[in-house]
Amino acid sequence: MPANRRTWLKQIGWGMAGLGIAPLQSFAVTESGPHEALFPQDDSIRLSSNENPYGPSPAVIAAMTAALSLSNRYNWQYSSDLMATIAKKHQLDPGNIMISAGSTEILDLQARYFGEAKGSFVISETTYSNWSSIAENAGYKKITVPLNAEKKQDLASMLSAIRTDTNMLYLCNPNNPTGTLIPDRELVSFITEATKKVTVVIDEAYLDYTEQSSAARLVPNNKNLIIVKTFSKIYGLAGARIGYALMHEELTEKISSTKTWANGDISVASRAAAMAALQDTAFTKKCRELNEQVRTDTMRQLQQLNFACIPSFSNFIYFSTEKHKTYFEQLKRSRIQGTYVYEKAGEWTRITVGTAAEMKQFIAAVSS
Ligand SMILES: Cc1ncc(COP(=O)(O)O)c(C=O)c1O
Repeated sequence: MPANRRTWLKQIGWGMAGLGIAPLQSFAVTESGPHEALFPQDDSIRLSSNENPYGPSPAVIAAMTAALSLSNRYNWQYSSDLMATIAKKHQLDPGNIMISAGSTEILDLQARYFGEAKGSFVISETTYSNWSSIAENAGYKKITVPLNAEKKQDLASMLSAIRTDTNMLYLCNPNNPTGTLIPDRELVSFITEATKKVTVVIDEAYLDYTEQSSAARLVPNNKNLIIVKTFSKIYGLAGARIGYALMHEELTEKISSTKTWANGDISVASRAAAMAALQDTAFTKKCRELNEQVRTDTMRQLQQLNFACIPSFSNFIYFSTEKHKTYFEQLKRSRIQGTYVYEKAGEWTRITVGTAAEMKQFIAAVSS
């Protein structure tokens, strides 16, 4: 085992112990670990992409490994069991489900579908938006709405921004990169209003880090609602590329018809991973708890260092680097991958909540 991998494994143990958390053998931390296992030339700490540092779970790895020998078979006719399992989880029908190679694929497909009319869509200025560029290049107009003073998506202004040619509105809940959450009641009343005019897309990539229920329960009675989910975050499967959407059957048919082999583009191993991940609720529960502990601890330390932070409901923290002009240089020096400035005013940036050991290194880097 390379020396720095050994060191990392030790640090994981120390970091957890520091938080009063026993290192968990049931976690795959000793297996998945730093990405140097796959990329030996890169031993930097990745706090850039909101990945789950503890996953995938051992049960998921076992399921994927067992499925590898079936890789000679096309997957398209076998994804129905996954669709049925997802449907059951959300108390919906398989006809409400569309599976994709990561949720980015669904976001891209729906944008191209609604963008066909060359009208417009409404989105917050600071949110997850890289999926819209292809539709925009083809003539779909993006109407952006600034965040409010609390760095929340401004629902009233988003509603007012809808024009006669607007056919879609995107909300990310919790929002990436700010980590803010639209409470359920407020969201439901917004969906009721907005879907009278447009299709509302709710991206719930990080909702599993909260206690809030999915808005998916509204799908059977709302033809203008799409809920987008992913296995990339709390399930620890970003590299397996698997996500899904929940929507009314009529909309599922329309969007599925825009691609070849709808539901069939995920690998046999990814399908097995998703099935096992949905079963392993002990793993996701533990990841949620660990994330909350490490996030709280990191935020407290950032605040002590005089970084203004936005309360987070996710596995990342949004904070201002305005008073810390050397922040990005400090990260670079410590070989930590962060992100960039999302909002120039206040110089707001985001950091993913890694393991306790990783965040200890992060805090040490920005304190120096
Ligand atoms: C809000 C949000 N939605 C979707 C995605 C895409 O995830 P994936 O394509 O891995 O499912 C991300 C990735 O970071 C995200 O932050």
